[in-house]
Amino acid sequence: MTQQLEIVPVGSGIGAEVVGLDLGLDFSDETYSRLRTALDENGVLFVPDQDLTVEQHQGLARRFGDLLTTQELRKEADETQNIGDTWHVDGTYTAAPPAVTLLVARELPRYGGDTIWASMRTAYDALSESLKDTLEGLSAVHANVRGLTPSSAATVPPEPSVDAYDDAEGVLHPVVISHPGGFKSLFVNPAYTARFEGWTRRESLGLLNYLFQHCQRPEFSVRLHWRPGMVAIWDNTQVWHLAVNDYHGLRRVMSRAVVAGAPLKAAR
Ligand code: SIN
Repeated sequence: MTQQLEIVPVGSGIGAEVVGLDLGLDFSDETYSRLRTALDENGVLFVPDQDLTVEQHQGLARRFGDLLTTQELRKEADETQNIGDTWHVDGTYTAAPPAVTLLVARELPRYGGDTIWASMRTAYDALSESLKDTLEGLSAVHANVRGLTPSSAATVPPEPSVDAYDDAEGVLHPVVISHPGGFKSLFVNPAYTARFEGWTRRESLGLLNYLFQHCQRPEFSVRLHWRPGMVAIWDNTQVWHLAVNDYHGLRRVMSRAVVAGAPLKAAR
């Protein structure tokens, strides 16, 4: 069925709330197409007041592509580490990083436990034309040098040696991608981008650290305070995300579904 949904931006260049959509219903291709366009345009969508079963969550994910993984993200009251409390983009150390992630709130802490997303499209747009030009000619090596895993992404181990970043084989991605939605976006992230192709880690760090700081500017981000029934859907190829770990002594349980992606296209 076709639903009369409304897309209401909640941030400047990133984030929109989807109003009037029941994600549990088997909606039409036209409704899906509106949702996909809204995702391209806003990077992350928030859909309140849903009550998705595990099957409905997976079915929804399959509308966006092949389902790669589903996982429960749980932090118990007696645990100190959560999953994903540093800026990252899922799986960029693979040749075809995940395309879309869908996160459903199952059990929320009394306070805290927000998630923040940052727009790499807006961050890219804010760079000078000369730097954009330099970056468009570059590729970067992405590798899981720290050994982060989807279930222990917050257990950030000590910083590995410079040699470990130089030796890591990893995979190559363009530093600026051409998004199928018709815009350019930066594709580097602090968790997995090891160095520029043909540059050493030491040579890369100055520019990489500049970009990482630039991308964390608050005006490029949107923060969600979760409510029961909230679903967040984000485009992994144009946003970073971070799960704030500020609810010690409380439980937080989420369900995550990840949709497979394709190799990324260089902007030039
Ligand atoms: C993640 O996918 O990194 C976790 C996001 C969250 O739990 O808010």
